[in-house]
Amino acid sequence: MDTRIYAHRGASAIAPENTMAAFKKAVEFGATWIETDVDIIGDGTPILIHDSTLDRTTNKSGSYYDLKVEDLDDIDAGSWFSPEFAGERIPTLRELVAFMNETGLNANIELKSNEAGAKMSLELVDAVLRELEALDGPQVIISSFNHVLLKILKDKAPQYRVGALFVAENLWDDWRSMLELVGADYIHPDDSTLTRAQVKAFREAGYGVNVWTVNSPARANELFNWGVTGIFTDNAHQMLRH
Ligand code: G3P
Ligand code: CA
Repeated sequence: MDTRIYAHRGASAIAPENTMAAFKKAVEFGATWIETDVDIIGDGTPILIHDSTLDRTTNKSGSYYDLKVEDLDDIDAGSWFSPEFAGERIPTLRELVAFMNETGLNANIELKSNEAGAKMSLELVDAVLRELEALDGPQVIISSFNHVLLKILKDKAPQYRVGALFVAENLWDDWRSMLELVGADYIHPDDSTLTRAQVKAFREAGYGVNVWTVNSPARANELFNWGVTGIFTDNAHQMLRH
């Protein structure tokens, strides 16, 4: 398996996370894979945003669960990062898919664990699968901390490779059962407590191992020496090996 650098939320150290500017910068710096987060708004449009509110990464506040796609035009997702990015919008998944088709960029798409309940969570899965039908060539991995949602997606669309995300606190000794039940292809563990023995066990069990979030080049090198298959980094612009 090739080793990969995933530009986490795009080139998020040098451009506002999860915007087209961040994805374009990632491509400029040679990224072949990005990571992004997807959730859903009130009219069923999947959008790319990490948090469950607009507060941290836009000029608006509150939930986006009641928005319509036209409302996105009035939300600035760039100024909080730097005035240079004023006017950047929250992208839709559809815009990203079009960009991937244009550039050949591949993406790890993380399904956010929607906070509005089961109905909207299932709508998110269906809406993401609908948008991905337009992909023409580029690869995707779909990941989530919500392993129930991930299994539902994998059952509906077994053609997609999926990665089960774990925080250190829930990476228990039952990881193999969890991965098998989900039908996962990859495990995506938190870097903070990851050990060489764990990486060895995951690899011996046949899983790809993509670790988040690794911003130190020295740590990235160590992890690759341990046998991990990929890292998510905010510093893809510095770490990409040409
Ligand atoms: O997918 C890796 C990483 O993005 C998971 O954590 O909180 O940055 O979405 P978070
Ligand atoms: Ca993420």
